[in-house]
Amino acid sequence: MSWKFFVSHSLPLFFLFFFYSFPLISTKHNDDPTFKTMHDFSGYPVDESSHTFTPSNSISLSVDIQALQKQIDELSTFSDTPAPSVTRILYTENDVLARRYVKNLMGLAGLSVTEDVVGNIFGRWDGYEPKLTAVATGSHIDAIPYSGKYDGVVGVLGAIEAINALKRSGFKPKRSLEIILFTSEEPTRFGISCLGSRLLAGSEALAEALKATVDGQNISFLEAARSAGYARDEDDLSRVFLKNDSYSAFVELHIEQAPILEEEGISIGVVTNIAAPASIKVDFEGNGGHAGGVLMPDRNDAGLAAAELMLAIEKHATESGSLDTVGTVGILELYPGAINSIPSKAHLEIDVRDIEESFRNAVINKIHKAAKSIAKKRKVTLSEFKIINQDPPAHSNGSVIKAVVDASDELNLTYKYMISRAYHDSLFMARIAPMGMIFIPCYKGYSHKPEEYASPQDLENGVKVLALTLAKLSLR
Ligand SMILES: *[C@@H]1O[C@H](CO)[C@@H](O)[C@H](O)[C@H]1NC(C)=O
Ligand SMILES: *[C@@H]1O[C@H](CO)[C@@H](O)[C@H](O)[C@H]1NC(C)=O
Ligand SMILES: *[C@@H]1O[C@H](CO)[C@@H](O)[C@H](O)[C@H]1NC(C)=O
Ligand SMILES: *[C@@H]1O[C@H](CO)[C@@H](O)[C@H](O)[C@H]1NC(C)=O
Ligand SMILES: [Zn+2]
Repeated sequence: MSWKFFVSHSLPLFFLFFFYSFPLISTKHNDDPTFKTMHDFSGYPVDESSHTFTPSNSISLSVDIQALQKQIDELSTFSDTPAPSVTRILYTENDVLARRYVKNLMGLAGLSVTEDVVGNIFGRWDGYEPKLTAVATGSHIDAIPYSGKYDGVVGVLGAIEAINALKRSGFKPKRSLEIILFTSEEPTRFGISCLGSRLLAGSEALAEALKATVDGQNISFLEAARSAGYARDEDDLSRVFLKNDSYSAFVELHIEQAPILEEEGISIGVVTNIAAPASIKVDFEGNGGHAGGVLMPDRNDAGLAAAELMLAIEKHATESGSLDTVGTVGILELYPGAINSIPSKAHLEIDVRDIEESFRNAVINKIHKAAKSIAKKRKVTLSEFKIINQDPPAHSNGSVIKAVVDASDELNLTYKYMISRAYHDSLFMARIAPMGMIFIPCYKGYSHKPEEYASPQDLENGVKVLALTLAKLSLR
């Protein structure tokens, strides 16, 4: 298989596509092989009136992996903690400097750069049919305390390099290609994950809540945004919302954050679904009392109610009927917290996930029922059962999946379908655009720690697959 390069008759533009070698001839007829190849490449019928092609020189898609690695390393120096750790919190000085660094690279790549009022950054390469909806890609560059330099960053700097590679190859997009740097994928500062993409996807609830949201230092969201140069004279965050038809597709490149690809020696993960967590806070309250004084039959121990609920969560997650259901109690607090005091209150925080919303929500209902019956049996009060968030999981779009698979095939890269068990901005972009994700292996699956690492070869593979996927989606 080889790259071929074609010149339009009707426009002074070049079109790039893959081609299983057979004779190249210029044509205006549907049955011509070059026309079929165009069709194959795009996966959609090509408008026969608009373009026909003649062959030009062969080219190849070359990724400048040294430049990309250097950019990843440089970006990691905008950090509140020493290397190799990275800490980059929303709207801090290092976040602002890192954003400036990315905007500069977008400018050098010839993209037109815009920002919205919360600091989602857009870099656009206009297609030759700029009225068509654009194809978007992107990820985040914020980093939780003491994490690594690849999470999110690969999907932003890698996207810029993908565009550079497409430009070097002579490709001209039909639909515009747009890179998005999403504001605050991590919940570090304001407790809200995927803040930027949630707003882009039109979350009224979030736009309203942010007016009253403060960080741990009692600095308001809007004050923090203003200090970083955003939301200057604008409190109406609903301006950030995108229309449902803003993008014809969205695809995100990301490290896997799990060890499967590395263990199996596979280059590319094609994400079919993104699991979404629901978070629940539960409080049981009893009478407490002296650990020596109150006899066992007379107790209503809130801690034992919590223990019983934890086992019920395990049982219901295990018996949900879906292998993808997971339930975890990551926080358990007992009050007053003394060795000689019966717990008078127990606080649990529960995370339940699945890729099927119905399975996950059925488990949440069972947990709620269990909590009520445990409270009754143990004569404690279920004083709180609060679902903090319950985002629906997302499914990748079949035609975006196909573009990623075709790209991997044409690049001779091994791939595997997989589920993303972590959340990504793609979860929210899926609400407004056909979505897909490309995973690359990362060392031992490490993420959110300084040891996070993706090899230059895997980065290069990911960038190539992204570039080719964007090219295919652009020509549809
Ligand atoms: C993929 O493999 C085929 C067959 O081995 C080869 O002809 C083609 O050039 C390879 N393509 C790339 C992009 O490496
Ligand atoms: C947070 O700031 C607001 C307004 O500046 C003030 O009214 C409130 O008392 C502060 N809260 C805390 C806990 O400091
Ligand atoms: C976008 O689509 C969703 C469902 O697909 C719909 O509920 C919503 O109203 C649409 N929003 C707009 C602005 O059209
Ligand atoms: C996937 O996206 C395409 C547009 O690219 C759309 O026509 C199709 O309906 C989408 N599929 C699903 C299942 O939403
Ligand atoms: Zn991420």
